[in-house]
Amino acid sequence: MKTRITEMLGVEYPIIQGGMHYVGFAELAAAVSNAGGFGIITGLTQGTPEKLKREIERCKEMTEKPFGVNLTFLPSLTPPDYPGLIQAIVDSNIRIVETAGYNPEKYLPPLKDAGIKVIHKCTSIRHSLKAQSIGCDAVSVDGFECGGHPGEDDIPNFILLPRAADELEIPFVASGGMADGRSLVASLAMGAEGINMGTRFIATKEAPVHENVKQALLNATELDTRLVMRPLRNTERVLNNVAVERLLKKEKSLGQDIDFAAIQDEVVGVYPEIMLNGKMDSGVWSCGLVTGLINDVPTVKELIDRIISQAKYLINQRLAEL
Ligand SMILES: Cc1cc2nc3c(=O)[nH]c(=O)nc-3n(C[C@H](O)[C@H](O)[C@H](O)COP(=O)(O)O)c2cc1C
Repeated sequence: MKTRITEMLGVEYPIIQGGMHYVGFAELAAAVSNAGGFGIITGLTQGTPEKLKREIERCKEMTEKPFGVNLTFLPSLTPPDYPGLIQAIVDSNIRIVETAGYNPEKYLPPLKDAGIKVIHKCTSIRHSLKAQSIGCDAVSVDGFECGGHPGEDDIPNFILLPRAADELEIPFVASGGMADGRSLVASLAMGAEGINMGTRFIATKEAPVHENVKQALLNATELDTRLVMRPLRNTERVLNNVAVERLLKKEKSLGQDIDFAAIQDEVVGVYPEIMLNGKMDSGVWSCGLVTGLINDVPTVKELIDRIISQAKYLINQRLAEL
């Protein structure tokens, strides 16, 4: 399968594994790249330039195929060492960086000078156009369905993707709610050059997370995610649990008086307990509506092969015969 994204990334299939905090370790990124997709290591999970360099080295030991690094720009009183992380990426000869969160403009020069291509994750058309205008090479358009931060506009992909196709010149991938060959074919039909998946890749054999996390995805339906931190305009789609219910109650009772300090216990530093130790009620964790389409835990290769063979069937048979 050849699209502008497979050409840009140098991969066989237009399937990207988006950066995921405490999930996007070398094991998962390498498995995705080895299966013909594009794996991404999550930079901030490593935290320091030295650790990120080591994780990239570990990934190189597991795959000879291309893979990337995610850099998420977050509001923080003590920001991570972004220049150092970028230097680690450049020194490690990474060719593709997925940026997310704030406008990445001030961090682009060192990446561009090193010839690195940047895919910026956007939840709106205006942010996608901005990314294009500042020199990003592609965008990952994240619809309202997505796990993580869907933005504040609440536009699902059936509207967002055709809008992106109408407005953008740079290539874009469809992100949020992607699970199978149907997602891929629909995205291509709407003008995307491929798909980006988060939640679906967590329920794979190679995802280096506790079995309880995979089981939670199997148990959940499309009715089981919630939106938290909306009053702070930092909305996150998460899997419901007791911590989420506690947080939503706090949001309701504090009303206009809410600030980040009031809720940080439920959201800060909770990922290691959940992802690595399987303590599922320790806090809130990102999860997409697509959990309603997850019914098994295949290997990454089985998942990607299945997506491609279903997509081929849909294009060559079902659609061709209509
Ligand atoms: C557990 C989890 C953690 C995530 N962490 C990050 C992150 O650190 N940085 C980022 O840019 N996106 C993050 N995302 C978003 C994904 O990269 C991707 O955009 C999103 O999951 C796509 O929606 P989907 O879950 O419906 O596939 C995370 C998603 C999940 C499910």
